[in-house]
Order: sequence, then structure tokens, then C-alpha cells
Amino acid sequence: MTANNTTAQTDPDSEAADHVVELNGVDSGYGEVQVLDDCSLHLDAEEIVCLIGPNGAGKSTVLKTVFGMLTPWEGTVTYHGKNIGGMAPEDIVREGIGYVPQTNNVFGSLSIEENLRMGGATRKSGLESVLDDLYERFPLLDEKRAAKASTLSGGQRQVLAFARALVMEPDVLLIDEPSAGLAPNTAQDVFGHVEAVNDLDTAILMVEQNATEGLGISDRGYVLDQGTVRFGGEADSLLDNDEVSKLYLGG
Ligand SMILES: Nc1ncnc2c1ncn2[C@@H]1O[C@H](COP(=O)(O)OP(=O)(O)OP(=O)(O)O)[C@@H](O)[C@H]1O
Ligand SMILES: [Mg+2]
Repeated sequence: MTANNTTAQTDPDSEAADHVVELNGVDSGYGEVQVLDDCSLHLDAEEIVCLIGPNGAGKSTVLKTVFGMLTPWEGTVTYHGKNIGGMAPEDIVREGIGYVPQTNNVFGSLSIEENLRMGGATRKSGLESVLDDLYERFPLLDEKRAAKASTLSGGQRQVLAFARALVMEPDVLLIDEPSAGLAPNTAQDVFGHVEAVNDLDTAILMVEQNATEGLGISDRGYVLDQGTVRFGGEADSLLDNDEVSKLYLGG
């Protein structure tokens, strides 16, 4: 058919292709249990965006839905304008999105080197040079290549989990609570690594329980509550917002 198609292809959200990652009106959950409810947010190139909100708000569920571990029931998840909702995680990794889960993010019984190689298992080429770069960037991993990951401290394990996700050279990294369970100094080091990774042109969508510190290194943030975005904006303006402060920052 060559007839003029006058009805099609006026994209109601034509800015979608400008965002690196965008959730638009997403409902998602586990089995019958709905967690995300009309959730819309986005991540642009070079940004760090911090998701905060109470326990059980659905923050981890957002990351799992972007990473294909959950399929959106409604709405769209796009990556550079391409619909990735429901794609398998291994395909999403190949598209360029990395994920550092909240817990169990390294294999304790494997060595550091084995953990990193596993992170690059689906790389077609260039694994050795990427590992060399990562060992240079993270000397503590270089020193302990042969050590089992279970022998690392919490902060070191978090660094290994990042490095593992970086083996695929993602242009987006989803990070779930990088500072969880870490002493303040160690958490600062980990946030420093998050910023350093971002400086290398990786956009970062980060969930952080430590809202003040998380927003402190972020460009923008969202407050999620009961599966819906309640507030969104520049990180500084969220930190200065009285309502956000009172309800979500304990201020
Ligand atoms: N695998 C699962 N099966 C069923 N329900 C789940 C599952 N994982 C999470 N939930 C439920 O979904 C809701 C949102 O969970 P989610 O882990 O996204 O919250 P969160 O904002 O990351 O919380 P936290 O700050 O505690 O990490 C919670 O009510 C939780 O009990
Ligand atoms: Mg969580």
C-alpha cells in the first residue's frame, strides 16, 4: 500500500528519543501485586539521577523494570527512544545498560578476576583491554585478583560490583543503594566511585536510602512513594524543598 498514511506516527512524546532512559506511565509489579503505579521519570546523557523514597516505595522495582527483570504491565520503558519494556536482561546489557543490584551483587565463592570475567561473558571482543583498564582504575581489585570475593570488605565488594557492571562498557548504569550497610567513610569512597564512573560519560540512575548524600552527588532526583513519583527536580531544589525534607529526609 502506498496510500498516504495521515493518521500514523505523530508521537505524542516526541522528546522520548532525547532521553537516554524514560519510563512513561509505567505500572509494574510481582505476580498479582502491583507496585509501580503510573510511574514516569527519565535519565539524560551525562546525568546522575537519584531515586529516593521510603522502604517499599518501589525504588528497586523501577530499576528491575528498566533492566527487564519485570515486564511493565502498562506504559513504556525506552532506551534512546527504543522500547525495551520486557526485553530480557541479557539483551538489555547488550544494548548498553548495566545493573548493580541492592544485594548479592558479586559471587563470593569466585575470585575477583572470575567475577569480572563473568561480567564480560557476553562481550564479543576487547575483554582483556577492558580488564586492564579496570584494574588500573581500581587498584584494590588489581592487588586481589586471585582472592575470593567473599574475603572483600563491604565497600570493596561494592567496588567489585561496579567494576563487574563496567566490563560491558555500559552508557547507563543502574545502581541500587550503593552505600547500604557501609560506614560513612566507606560510603563516601563509594559515592566517589559513582562520580568517577559518571565522569567517564556513563549516565547513572541510582537508588539511595541515604537521600542527602545521594542527592548531594546527583544532578536531579525523584521522590517515589507508593509506586508513584511525588516530586522531581534538580537535586538542590529537592534538598531545599520543605515538604520533601519533612516527609522524606527526616528534616
Ligand atoms: N519479589 C517480590 N515479590 C513480591 N513482592 C515484592 C517482591 N519484591 C518486592 N516486593 C514488594 O514490592 C514493594 C516495593 O518493593 P521495592 O523493593 O521496589 O521497594 P524499595 O523502594 O526498593 O524499598 P527498600 O528501600 O526497602 O529497598 C514492596 O511492598 C515489596 O514488598
Ligand atoms: Mg530497594
